[in-house]
Amino acid sequence: MRLQYLGHSAFRIVADDGTQILIDPYLDKNPLAPIKANQLSADYIILTHAHGDHLGDALSIAKMGITVIICVSELASIISKRGYKVHAMQIGGGFIFEFGRVKFTMALHGSATPDGQYAGLAAGVILEVDGLCIYHCGDTGLFGDMKLIGEMFAIDYLLVPIGGNYTMDIDDAVLAVRMLHPKLAIPMHYNTFPIIEVDPEDFKRKAAIAGTDVLIMQPGDSC
Ligand code: NI
Ligand code: MN
Repeated sequence: MRLQYLGHSAFRIVADDGTQILIDPYLDKNPLAPIKANQLSADYIILTHAHGDHLGDALSIAKMGITVIICVSELASIISKRGYKVHAMQIGGGFIFEFGRVKFTMALHGSATPDGQYAGLAAGVILEVDGLCIYHCGDTGLFGDMKLIGEMFAIDYLLVPIGGNYTMDIDDAVLAVRMLHPKLAIPMHYNTFPIIEVDPEDFKRKAAIAGTDVLIMQPGDSC
């Protein structure tokens, strides 16, 4: 499995069998994105919530009738009415897809489409692909049930927001890694806009004191 950072909260996972999975593909409106939507294709697109910086280019990348968009049921019904193939889930639910298992977790955040339509709850997502466990926190504030998630899963890659204002900041994200104890934490949702500018090296230093390694990925980097 390869994990590629596409800027902001967008990631591409390519499974060993070639399955392409995108998470929160916000690209064309992000000047820091390393690739444009029309250069990507996906078998699956996972959306943590409907805000414009997460729904992003999902509908232009998705091929009608082919790409499966995985998201909470309220957002799935909005998307399926536009003709796309969806797999509706809900927080706490898990499902085994051909590429691996997906489980939706809580996220302390809102969710509405860019035109203001209510789109259900915001979520985080845990993927188990090729024997690795990835937890994409979505947009969220810090919450104590991360301790439970840390007990339930041996997390290899924690994709964690650090930019503050809309989500956890660096100090909150350090508390999150203390509860989740991932093998590697990868910061996201920072420096895309002036209001979420932070120094990821500060997160790296503080997480190291908490015993967690941090990998700062530049948009386009893979691991
Ligand atoms: Ni959001
Ligand atoms: Mn966001």
